[in-house]
Amino acid sequence: MSNYHIKHFEEYFQVYRKSVNNPESFWEEIAEEHFVWRKKWNNVLRWDFQKPEIKWFEGAQLNITENCLDRHLHTRGDKTAILFEPNDPNEPAEHITYKQLYDRVCKFANVLHDKGISKGDRVCIYLPMIPELAVAVLACARIGAIHSVVFAGFSSTALSTRINDCDAKMVICADGSYRGSKTIDLKGIVDEALKDCPGVESVLVAKRINSDIAMKEGRDEWLQPLLDEAYREYSAVIMDAEDPLFILYTSGSTGMPKGMLHTIGGYMVYTAYTFKNVFQYKEEDVYWCTADIGWITGHSYIVYGPLCNGATTVMFEGVPSYPDFGRFWEIVDKHKVNQFYTAPTAIRALAKHGTELIEKYDLSSLKVLGSVGEPINEEAWHWYNDNVGKKKSPIVDTWWQTETGGIMITPIPFSTPTKPTYATLPFIGIQPALMDENGQEIKGNQVDGRLCIKFPWPSMARTIWGNHQRYKDTYFSAFENMYFTGDGALRDEVGYYRITGRVDDVIIVSGHNLGTAPIEDAINEHNAVAESAIVGFPHDVKGNALYGFITLKDVGETRQHDNVRKEINQLITDRIGPIAKLDKIQFTSGLPKTRSGKIMRRILRKIASHETENLGDTSTLLNPEVVQEIMDNVK
Ligand code: PRX
Repeated sequence: MSNYHIKHFEEYFQVYRKSVNNPESFWEEIAEEHFVWRKKWNNVLRWDFQKPEIKWFEGAQLNITENCLDRHLHTRGDKTAILFEPNDPNEPAEHITYKQLYDRVCKFANVLHDKGISKGDRVCIYLPMIPELAVAVLACARIGAIHSVVFAGFSSTALSTRINDCDAKMVICADGSYRGSKTIDLKGIVDEALKDCPGVESVLVAKRINSDIAMKEGRDEWLQPLLDEAYREYSAVIMDAEDPLFILYTSGSTGMPKGMLHTIGGYMVYTAYTFKNVFQYKEEDVYWCTADIGWITGHSYIVYGPLCNGATTVMFEGVPSYPDFGRFWEIVDKHKVNQFYTAPTAIRALAKHGTELIEKYDLSSLKVLGSVGEPINEEAWHWYNDNVGKKKSPIVDTWWQTETGGIMITPIPFSTPTKPTYATLPFIGIQPALMDENGQEIKGNQVDGRLCIKFPWPSMARTIWGNHQRYKDTYFSAFENMYFTGDGALRDEVGYYRITGRVDDVIIVSGHNLGTAPIEDAINEHNAVAESAIVGFPHDVKGNALYGFITLKDVGETRQHDNVRKEINQLITDRIGPIAKLDKIQFTSGLPKTRSGKIMRRILRKIASHETENLGDTSTLLNPEVVQEIMDNVK
């Protein structure tokens, strides 16, 4: 029996038991047998959740790109590594072999080196889903620079905040991007952001849309001519297993986004191992994850996990709705995709358009379907199962987070019996716990509580860049000696987990994490606004949408409401990005508060969701009349 590739349910239990009874020897074996190291570790694991400090494979040396590229050159050199499918279906797809990808990464690494980037420097990557994005990520890893990819849908303010937080020296961007029938002026957004980023010394610009853009003398350079001149070998910089690999920002319930820091060795081992098992990837398969590399899903399951396994990974530049809502299925048919991994919000959007667009295409290549990013509701699960998987492809509902680096709770396809809306069982090595509000673990089945993880796993984030205290406060303080996920979950009668959603002030809209505080801050910048509170409410496509309760300074002012609404959404777009726009805005004469002045969001959440029969305990409410007014005017 190979512990690396689990093929039956029995095997899952056996391997799981090994992984929790003796985690160190378990992970040591996986790491030793399936990866290339330049030097072995002194310690498999050292950890302390109080500090918190987590170290995997300490003392080991490696370069992750030797695992993603070099080691495949002899056996898979001519195999497609990245299959790039452009936004426009009439533009040919590009098959980049492992040899070609190796050359491109080495050339890019030489360009970075020549521009003065070295080990430990931060490089911000703000690119659309074009091959240069994956190449840039790997080139950073090859020279030991820390990449910080910012999703190219974020605004200039969001971009500059992230650049400054990690002190990036360089930005890699494109002239613009295609998004369905639209183009986006990415370089314009970068120029705007860089007005506030004095630390950025150079900008490399990939040409994608051939737009006429401004290039700042001495700072900006076109990427392609530099690559054309670059040498096609770059010997990988040897890194320590616990050296940083990347920073990726995720929203917190308050304040600045959190720059989650992932380190090399453990992240590599865990993402590769989960990829192999959760998708049951076989050598000839074509695997497609529809996420953007700007999110953790893309980092772990478009780039690192698949490439470490020598897989063919599809990178899609476009959107599911262009040129029509059959685009995903057309791609599955065209490239004979075997594993398809997407988000519930996409499934719901596609389901709205019926099955006609599915029936046009041959989806018989599909073997495994995946879901990630938010809870999948029963209706979407069945639609996906019946129409896309034709009831023969298991659905893996994978629960995890930017912080966890890799998939944590998931079925193993063809092994774990699936159950709609359940992420089912912990992956190998993962020890979940449900906790009650008094900090006690809730044992047994048919219970619900706050989801924690009791024991370290290799790909967990090691800190928040520049703010270790916040890392400790956010994840290791709510429950003693546990990693707290911020999610609620229930465990059914057989021990399957179902994630019920966030228990903090993070709202997941179309699979994107949005903290309420930064949105409220943006709204409060409007000079007519006195205060605001954002809550989520159920939405049939996005999962949740945002509802803003806003008090104006001049409460009697009603004439300008529509303008103020538009201006508020524009402010949010400018400060964060269009994904954070409010679906509903209700102006109120006040917000429900406790006597100590805290906004009672719980009440607003119920009102926004039309669940007003039982508002719960309102005894501490300072201003009940406001609640009545809000209920009378609810949208
Ligand atoms: O609330 C959970 C939800 O997404 C959060 C993590 O978001 P992010 O860091 O952006 O990573 C998303 C991709 C891994 C979690 O705390 N979430 C993620 N996957 C699921 C989920 N909720 C329910 N079911 C899932 N499968």
